[in-house]
Amino acid sequence: MPCLVITGASSGIGLATARAFIESGYEVINLSRSACNVDGVTNIACDLTDPNFLPDIEASLHAGIAGAETLCLVHNAARLAHDCVAEVSPEELRSVYEINLIAPAVLNRMLLPSMSPGSSILYVGSTLGEKAVPGSFSYVTSKHASIGMMRATCQDLAGSGVHTACINPGFTDTEMLRDHIPADVMPEIAQMSAYGRLIEPSEIARTLLFAAQTPVINGSVMNANLGQIER
Ligand SMILES: NC(=O)c1ccc[n+]([C@@H]2O[C@H](COP(=O)([O-])OP(=O)(O)OC[C@H]3O[C@@H](n4cnc5c(N)ncnc54)[C@H](OP(=O)(O)O)[C@@H]3O)[C@@H](O)[C@H]2O)c1
Repeated sequence: MPCLVITGASSGIGLATARAFIESGYEVINLSRSACNVDGVTNIACDLTDPNFLPDIEASLHAGIAGAETLCLVHNAARLAHDCVAEVSPEELRSVYEINLIAPAVLNRMLLPSMSPGSSILYVGSTLGEKAVPGSFSYVTSKHASIGMMRATCQDLAGSGVHTACINPGFTDTEMLRDHIPADVMPEIAQMSAYGRLIEPSEIARTLLFAAQTPVINGSVMNANLGQIER
């Protein structure tokens, strides 16, 4: 059976992705602080901002993937902080980079030896991986780096039969977006897509499932944003 290892499947895009992969016959292992409540998902609790998260979960993760035909590793968990270049503290920057960048690199290194041909590493990026807005310094810089990490992953894994891609969601109706954007501004945000609405997490989940099963997209940055209106 193929196996999905995903970070941050307790809510939003990750939760919808766990559901989509379970329905498609994958085993699913979720890494986050709280549990993913989809039936059949194996939850391994961890805090990915902790630089030493791996030793505590390594044995459970190895046990969870034992016997999997192929692995799909989805780097989905992230932190979005309000910060700016003039004021961001090194501590804040390190914390955002731990979960958004270091944890993916640590998980890649651990799981790559178990990835047979047909496996994949998918990064959940953002439209802010290719452009910037004010007030999200650590997030914008980390999401640019996710694209770089995906491209380097592609080059380093050439010939392995393991493919990679970075899926960049636009404004998606999740807790992260609701925490970041005041409710009265949300209708305006919805109008920033060519369809005049927010994206459903299940739409990003289907894109991730497609990417997992489609090696020809290896090395791609895929925008999944309904066509963002630029002003
Ligand atoms: N929503 C959007 O508009 C949008 C747009 C572009 C890109 N994205 C990207 O989509 C991905 C998913 O975001 P979302 O919108 O679905 O957000 P969400 O609903 O807030 O989900 C975030 C997930 O990350 C996990 N997480 C947060 N901090 C963690 C930590 N310290 N350790 C382990 N897990 C942690 C959360 O689990 P716990 O709290 O249980 O730990 C949760 O499952 C992110 O990479 C985000 O940058 C979202």
